[in-house]
This record gives sequence, C-alpha cells and structure tokens, in this order.
Amino acid sequence: MTLTEPKRESGAERDAAVCRPGPLAAHRRIQFSSPASNPIAAILWTRQLRKSFSAGGATLEILRGIDLALQPGELVAVVGESGCGKSTLLHVLSTLDSASSGEIYFAPRGTMADHRANPDAARREAPGAPSAVAPASTPAPVCLSRLGAEALAEFRNREIGYVWQMHHLLPEFTLLENVMLPRLIAGETPARAAAAARDDLASVGLADRAHHRAGELSGGEQQRGALARALTLSPRLLLADEPTGNLDEATGERVFDLLARLHRERGLTTLLATHNAQFARRCDRVLRLHLGQLAPLAPAGPSASPVSG
Ligand SMILES: Nc1ncnc2c1ncn2[C@@H]1O[C@H](COP(=O)(O)OP(=O)(O)OP(=O)(O)O)[C@@H](O)[C@H]1O
Ligand SMILES: [Mg+2]
Repeated sequence: MTLTEPKRESGAERDAAVCRPGPLAAHRRIQFSSPASNPIAAILWTRQLRKSFSAGGATLEILRGIDLALQPGELVAVVGESGCGKSTLLHVLSTLDSASSGEIYFAPRGTMADHRANPDAARREAPGAPSAVAPASTPAPVCLSRLGAEALAEFRNREIGYVWQMHHLLPEFTLLENVMLPRLIAGETPARAAAAARDDLASVGLADRAHHRAGELSGGEQQRGALARALTLSPRLLLADEPTGNLDEATGERVFDLLARLHRERGLTTLLATHNAQFARRCDRVLRLHLGQLAPLAPAGPSASPVSG
C-alpha cells in the first residue's frame, strides 16, 4: 500500500501488512531491567512514558506506559491508526512536548551506545560537540526529564533532528539561512555555519537552491531542505513524523530513499512515523502503537499477529 492509494483496510489489517518481511526487516524484542540501566546499549530508552491531554473536560490518555529502546544505528518505523498517538510520541521523545510522567534516557556521547555506523559521521561532528572518543570511565545516562529548560533546549538542538510532515522551514528566510539556523543557535559564526550548510544542502542535492526562499521550492525540495536542517549539527537521533505524507508517490519515495541513505551514511538512529507500508517494511524494525502501547509487529504469515512488547 502507498499513501496515494485509498485506505481500504482496517488499521489492524494495514499494520499487519507492514510486517511482511522486507530486505532489512528484523523483529526483535526489547529487554529492560532497572529504569536507568542500559542493558542493551540503547542510544535512547524510555520508562513508562505517559502522555495525557485535557480537552473539553475529559482526559485523553494517549501514551499509556511506553517502554521503548532504540539501538544505535537502527531505523525503526512506528505505525498505527490515525489518532493513535504517533506524533504525540515523537513530540514527547523530541522533548518539544513534555511527558505527563515517565522518563526518557539518552546514552551519553563517548559510550558504546554512541557508536557511529560510518566513521565519516565522526568527522562531521560540529565544532564544540563533545568528543565521541570513549573515556576511561562510563558517564551516566542523560535523563532528559531532569534537565532544566536551557540545558534541554541545547541538548535537543545538538542531539535530536526532527522532520515534520510539513517541512516547517521559515518562509521569509532562504534555504541556506534555514539550514544555518541550528548552527547559529549553537553559537557558530555565520561564516562557518554558512559553509557547513552549503555542504548539507549539497548532500541532499539542493546546492543550486541555497538562495531560494522556502516558499519557492517544491514539496520534495522543501522536505529535502528540512532533512538538511535537521541533520546539520550531526544529531545522534533523527525523529521523522510522516516526512513523505504530503508528497506524491514518486517524490515520497525519493525523500524516503534520501532519508535512508543519510541514516546509513551518518550512522544515525532514526524513528520514523509512517502510514506507508512499503517504507515501514524497509526499516530494521516495525513497532505498532495501539491503545497507548507500543508493540513489535510479528512477521506476517498464517499465524502472524501483533505481539505484546
Ligand atoms: N494538544 C492536544 N490537545 C488535545 N488533544 C490532542 C493534542 N494533541 C493531540 N491530541 C489528540 O491525541 C490523539 C493522538 O494524536 P496524534 O496527532 O499523536 O495522532 P497520530 O497517530 O499522529 O495521527 P495521524 O496518523 O493522523 O498523524 C488524537 O486524538 C489527538 O486529537
Ligand atoms: Mg501524526
């Protein structure tokens, strides 16, 4: 199924279709012990993450105790019916929104979990970023829920790239200026930020669009620009919320291919929310969000059904 086809199946049927094995598919169970422990060398893990909204006098419990662990270098898809809470989960993980309760942990740089799949990724580290060389003693995990607002904003800017369904490029700025912004916020000089942003635009095939305003670009170009902006500071985690959701099939495929290539080349850990079964199948793992819980999808087959995590 692709985005451009009508959604004929029920949510469960559609999600089950996602787990027919693809070339990269591997379905693994997640093991946990104590809240701050990191037994599987995850780069990010959560403990009993909950998120509720109050609306019209009612409380909507959207996330009901999410235990998620992402291993370094994984490309993981989150699927689920519209309204199940995929965007809510990504917002909370990105720290753009706060959880109602529960915790999010990040492996510190310089540990085994800070592996980069591609050594080139280490060379792309932004100036001033903490060293990725393993220290003599293992630093403690970063508990995001315990960081103050300023430290959290700095952490987010540096470590987490986010791509939305709508690109959210600033329309009054050029593409180059949009991509420079995270670096300027991180304190780089405009000259350095511009040089790096030019490289980032070249890596998404937009070198010749650097001085176009965001509104002058096609949908696919805007999303490629948004990817360049999300990745300019070499974050360790990329969160992508239906990044191809507003694109036609062919353009969506090109953007997904680009995302998958950058994920691989830069040694990223990526969590992708998608309704597109083909893209989900190309990920390393597929998780289904249903009734506020995440569960791995079992490989499809006569007895295949979502299993609890
Ligand atoms: N700020 C908010 N206040 C109240 N309810 C909200 C808020 N944000 C999201 N919700 C509700 O939470 C639920 C989950 O929304 P969310 O956008 O996370 O779903 P989704 O899985 O991303 O859906 P889609 O696939 O359509 O993008 C929805 O019922 C939505 O109305
Ligand atoms: Mg959504």
